[in-house]
Amino acid sequence: MNTSRRRAKSEDTHSMKTKYRFPPPNISDNRYDHDKKHIKKNRKLSLLHLICSVGFFITIGFAFFCLYDVSSTKMLEARIESTSDVIERSLIDGFRSCHVSSDPVVSLNRRRGTSRCDRDENVAIIVFETSYGCSDYVTYSVSFSIKNISCDVITKSRLHTCMFNISNIRSVDFEIMAEIETETVFKHKDTIRLPSTEILKRTNFRSDSFKIGIVGDSQAETTLFRQQLEAMRMHDLNLFVHLGDVVQDDSSMFEWYLNFFRPVSSKIGTTPMLYSRGNHDVDGVVKRRRYFPDHPVSTISPNGYFALTASGIRFVVLDTASPYDSRQKDWLECEVSSSDWINAKYRVVLTHIPPFIEYWNPKTWKKGENRWGYFNREVFVPILERAGMDIMFSGHSHVYQRGKRGSSAYVVAGGGGATLEKVGENSARVEDWNMYDKTYFGHHYTILSVVQEISGESRLVVQTYSIENVLVDLFVVDESES
Ligand SMILES: [Fe+2]
Repeated sequence: MNTSRRRAKSEDTHSMKTKYRFPPPNISDNRYDHDKKHIKKNRKLSLLHLICSVGFFITIGFAFFCLYDVSSTKMLEARIESTSDVIERSLIDGFRSCHVSSDPVVSLNRRRGTSRCDRDENVAIIVFETSYGCSDYVTYSVSFSIKNISCDVITKSRLHTCMFNISNIRSVDFEIMAEIETETVFKHKDTIRLPSTEILKRTNFRSDSFKIGIVGDSQAETTLFRQQLEAMRMHDLNLFVHLGDVVQDDSSMFEWYLNFFRPVSSKIGTTPMLYSRGNHDVDGVVKRRRYFPDHPVSTISPNGYFALTASGIRFVVLDTASPYDSRQKDWLECEVSSSDWINAKYRVVLTHIPPFIEYWNPKTWKKGENRWGYFNREVFVPILERAGMDIMFSGHSHVYQRGKRGSSAYVVAGGGGATLEKVGENSARVEDWNMYDKTYFGHHYTILSVVQEISGESRLVVQTYSIENVLVDLFVVDESES
């Protein structure tokens, strides 16, 4: 009975639906109004049904998602526990994957003094980087074979530093250990060779006994920079010099890790480094004031200008990338009157911005960048030339140039990887200082070495190689003229 009624109703509804779609012209108004009300009611019910259905499916989906999430997390935990995979464990316990990402980088510098003409205290700064998983839950400890070392190894940054006086030290054995509660997360052992007191005081050398690799302006071109470091490593360096612009954007820690610390660490290892600040390395600090804690410039070079002696060569590192500060001029005047400078066999100055730039972007040069080398040229050069500087190395202009003024030689070695200055018809020559004897438009690196001649005399020799390891320039810094 019920079934037949339902069927009748269904048939009736079906016939009405047909009528609503195509109402005949003679249908009565009352009947039509009644049907319209019925249809509205049905539409409301359908809408309610739709909302309920959607809600139901969302609830079911969410429940499945939660169950899947919980289940996958448990599966992941189980897998981690079963395999002890360090990387996967880091997804849950980040600190457990902590390790030293690379060999430490050793930067030579000078402890910041308080007086105008304070004595140098040469220091080595060991900078080591830890992996992403590390956090301040990890306690680092660094043990050395010598005493009096201060370390800043419990920081939120991934860069950690230890500083110590190098005056009487030839090599340092050290071990970095990280712990979480009582569990040792990692251990890292290494030995650092340093220019010892014995080497510092020697003036006669065996052939090729002391070599310095020099490069500038690698910026963001990591591949070329790595190539050059690899080539320089073959020379068995005693010192490594970077003339600045080690990154493109100094506010990016990613760049510091990827473009500087890792290449230097993996290719040069713990060979001590002398670093001169480049404008790209301090732009954020100086101009945009985007200083962040543990800025790498402060980490690797807490003092922007300093001097130290290694193997009878007096190295003076100047800061020409930061705004001019008369205290640097005062310090330089003291430096060139010191016995360390006067008695040195050679006097070598390292800085980023050359005093005599010839190749640059002509448009920006005219708009004010012709001031780049101004205070180096007008303030520092007169002091240094009067005091018998043998040679100044700088970068900034992405080209190789070698020339001379009086008894002082000048080398621009800015071919560490960044885009080269334009040559040919679109030459970017902006000045002619009438002093350079050699110009090379290609990426390059330079080896500065002390070479003993047959007569027994030692000479300071500059050799510059293309990125293909072809010698493109060689000259001797004549000490008799100094
Ligand atoms: Fe620069």
